[in-house]
Amino acid sequence: MTASKDKTLLRALAGETQAVPPVWLMRQAGRYLPEYRATRAKAGDFLSLCYNPELAAEVTLQPIRRYGFDAAILFADILLLPQALGADLWFVTGEGPRLSTLTDAAGLRALKGRDDIHETLAPIYETVGILARELPRETTLIGFAGAPWTVATYMIAGRGTKDQGPAHALKDTDRATFAALIDLLTEATVEYLSKQVEAGAEVVKLFDSWAGSLKGQDFDDFCLEPAKRIIAALKARHPGLPVIAFPREAGERYVGFARATGADCVALDNSVEAGWAAEKVQVDGCVQGNLDPKLMVTGGEALARETRRIRDAFSKGPHIFNLGHGITPDADPENVHVMLQALRG
Ligand code: CP3
Repeated sequence: MTASKDKTLLRALAGETQAVPPVWLMRQAGRYLPEYRATRAKAGDFLSLCYNPELAAEVTLQPIRRYGFDAAILFADILLLPQALGADLWFVTGEGPRLSTLTDAAGLRALKGRDDIHETLAPIYETVGILARELPRETTLIGFAGAPWTVATYMIAGRGTKDQGPAHALKDTDRATFAALIDLLTEATVEYLSKQVEAGAEVVKLFDSWAGSLKGQDFDDFCLEPAKRIIAALKARHPGLPVIAFPREAGERYVGFARATGADCVALDNSVEAGWAAEKVQVDGCVQGNLDPKLMVTGGEALARETRRIRDAFSKGPHIFNLGHGITPDADPENVHVMLQALRG
């Protein structure tokens, strides 16, 4: 796959250093945008929006129209895959996701197989297909999935947790069952992302939001190794497919992560220092992210200054400008213009 000249994001992923880096934002389609809230209300609720291809494509396109970002990320959620594997899933307004809990080998046996997910996920592939047709030619389409560890933390606890305690407990008391769950998720994720690519996704991103709570050998076994397997399998099926990995809050373990997993780009959270990351992580290739999402709420000169500082810190290598985590519902949509002006102006 040769990086199209028009697509600045693909050029960064192919290793090109650009004077103005391509830019998009995690959760760029979200509650901070009035047009998103209107479309979600029309869909009824968040999951109905995810499974409605026309409306999911519409909310994916909204931030592209408003801001002209260099990439669009499919509108969906990392928890649709466990749902496709047979877990119950619902969202409690103002609180977040809830799932049936998986606590033992019997719970694991009750799940479906990796090849049984596509009936549930068919609408997601349809959304990708619509986007591949409708996006401007210079905009790159990113597909995504959660990484096995992060998805497992939600399946085991049945909800988001601060310390991922229930997942650590299962890992430490019944490692065989835990490892088998990670294996199933690894294989299902390959099938899920592969279908997204067949439908038109040009890049895929693997979100390991809770990678930071895995330490030592556990990090190797349950963050690094699954990412490596997923990336190798995807690249075998889709030669040249660029992959972005986001081992959030991996700290020192960001060093060498791209080399060890085969990722083309590593996404950085905002706890790492840009100068350090340029020296230790960007040496291996493209990096993405790092801007504190809070600045999108507070704005002003601090936002413009931090935007330029991060751009300049990564200016000697391939870089995709982004936040260190998702943009929050209380962000001011005008601040995105402040950031873009500082970045490009
Ligand atoms: O980035 C994008 O714009 C693409 C769409 C996307 C969503 N979720 C939509 C969403 C992506 C890439 C995700 C990934 C995701 N989902 C992650 C990994 C990234 C991260 O944030 O760490 C995780 C952990 C989830 C699970 C999830 N989904 C949680 C914990 C929540 C509740 C928290 C919250 O922000 O409300 C969601 C809901 C969710 N996913 C929303 C959106 C736009 C908000 C739901 C709403 O509109 O009410």
